Formats: sequence, structure tokens, C-alpha cells
Amino acid sequence: MNELRTCVFPCAGFGTRFFPATKVIPKEMLPLVDKPILQYGIEEAVASGLDKLVIVTSKGKDSILDHFDRTAELERSLQERKKTDLLEEVEAVSTMVDLISVRQKEALGLGHAVLMARDAVGPNPFAVILPDDVILADEPCLLQMRHVFEETGRPVVALMEVPPEETSRYGIVGGDQLGNRRFRIRDMVEKPKINPPSRYAIIGRYILPPEIFPVLEKTERGSGGEIQLTDALRELVRTGDFYGYVFDGKRYDAGEKLGYLKATVDYALKHPQIGPEFRAYLKAVFGGNGKADEAAPRSTPRART
Ligand code: G1P
Repeated sequence: MNELRTCVFPCAGFGTRFFPATKVIPKEMLPLVDKPILQYGIEEAVASGLDKLVIVTSKGKDSILDHFDRTAELERSLQERKKTDLLEEVEAVSTMVDLISVRQKEALGLGHAVLMARDAVGPNPFAVILPDDVILADEPCLLQMRHVFEETGRPVVALMEVPPEETSRYGIVGGDQLGNRRFRIRDMVEKPKINPPSRYAIIGRYILPPEIFPVLEKTERGSGGEIQLTDALRELVRTGDFYGYVFDGKRYDAGEKLGYLKATVDYALKHPQIGPEFRAYLKAVFGGNGKADEAAPRSTPRART
């Protein structure tokens, strides 16, 4: 079996759902507690055994690459001031991975963004992580999917059941449930306006063969006038077994305001340093009944000197 080492991160979108915050700052760089959103995706890829990471960016997104680069001056300054904890954190980020960067010069959609990674990916299967889809899970979502891929050698996408009124927001699959969280996919439709084939939505994790690239090259513009990855995958479904995996974990759409806030709360509660204090703060705010409490602490008064 061809080895799975590469993960592609499409990061070229405008982030319009988060304007005005993302007018200048790439949405992938918004912090989720103390790390940029993209770093969670990168850590998931690394924890899933992938070490060749390809970032598809567009103009104005250079800070993404800077974040994972070395910052010699900062590191020297922290060293001189003996801030060893901070130095370790900064070094951990810059030595975590070497990124390959490719540019998407026109905003033609997710399928087009993945196609831009073709040369960087080469002839082996590869994964795709959409950084907006942040997934909190005991076992990384991509690793859960990797088990299915290693067993079958066939493409796998992450699936999540969504309420009927939300099927028009996602790529929706049709097919047979095999048990054991697995789904044999027979069809898929990007953002169906009517008659969704099921309530199982594709979430931003994919393990794909390189054969997807020639298909993407021929894929015409679809939903929203964009070249859709789902439309290309639909072609692939016709050529052989294609699996969905209903992952175990909680997914947040961190590319929009409400999803981002929910992720922030849950990740903050789990944070080893600030978690306990944040929990106490939320309890004080809601008084245990889900309603904001008037007596909640506003801010800690600063001692006057
Ligand atoms: C993309 C995909 C869609 C998938 C979704 C998951 O849509 O095109 O098939 O269901 O990600 O988040 P987007 O959210 O970029 O419009």
C-alpha cells in the first residue's frame, strides 16, 4: 500500500463569515484560547502520523507561514531574559513541522484549492483538513479515519449526522450504513437544496487517492459558482469503494462567530492552566441556572498603588 504522509490544508478563503475581524488577519490565525485555529489542525495531522504538510494560501496570508517559522530575535530575547517556559513554547511551534506552501491565485473554490497542491502531493494518497472544522476528540479524527484507510486502501471522508434543516449547508452523502461507524458511500451532493440523500454531512477531513487530481482538473463550477471538491469526489465514488466514517468527537465550525465562541468555551474549559478558573467564572456568571447572574464578578479590581 502507498504510504500516507501528506496532509493538505486549504487556507485561501476570504473568511467573510467572520468579517470584519478577518479583513486583514487570516481566519486560520484567529486564536482558540492560546493557539491559532490552524495549529489545532496541524497538531491533529502530526498526531495522525502525517509529516508532509502542504498549506494552500492566497495573498495576505503570509502570517500563517511566519507562525510556523523560526523567530530568531524573539527566541534570543526570551533566552536572555531567561523566560524558559515561553521559549520552549515558541520553539515547539517553529520546530513542529516544515510546511510546503502553494498559492491559490484565484478564489475558485475548495476543489480548485486542492488541485493547487497537486505537484506538492505527488503520486501518493493524501489527507485534507479544512482548518475551520475544529474537532475535539480523544483519538484525533484523522487517525480514526486512517484506520479505515489502512484496512481498506480506499478513500474515506469524515461524516456527522446533522438536523434536516442543516443539510443544505454541507456536502451530503447517500449510501449504506455498514455498522461500526462506517458508511459505504454511493453518492454525494454539495449543499442540496432539496431531497438530500441522507442526513450525513461531510466534515472537513478527507483521505484521498492522487486519482482525484485529473478529476478535479475536469470538474466544472458547481454550487456557489465554485469548483467543488464534493463534485469531484462524486466521480470517484463511481469508480470503486468509497467510505464515510462517523467520527467520535465534537466538531465546531470555527469559521463563523457562534461556532468559534462555542469552541473557545469548550477548549478554555479543558485548558490545564486556565480551565478551573474559567469554569468557576462561568458558574458565577450563570449562577447554575443558565441565566446570567447580576452578582457575577465583572472584573478583578486592580489594587491601587
Ligand atoms: C465545505 C465542503 C462541504 C463540507 C463542508 C464541511 O463547505 O464543500 O462539502 O460539508 O466544507 O465543513 P464550506 O463550508 O467550505 O462551504
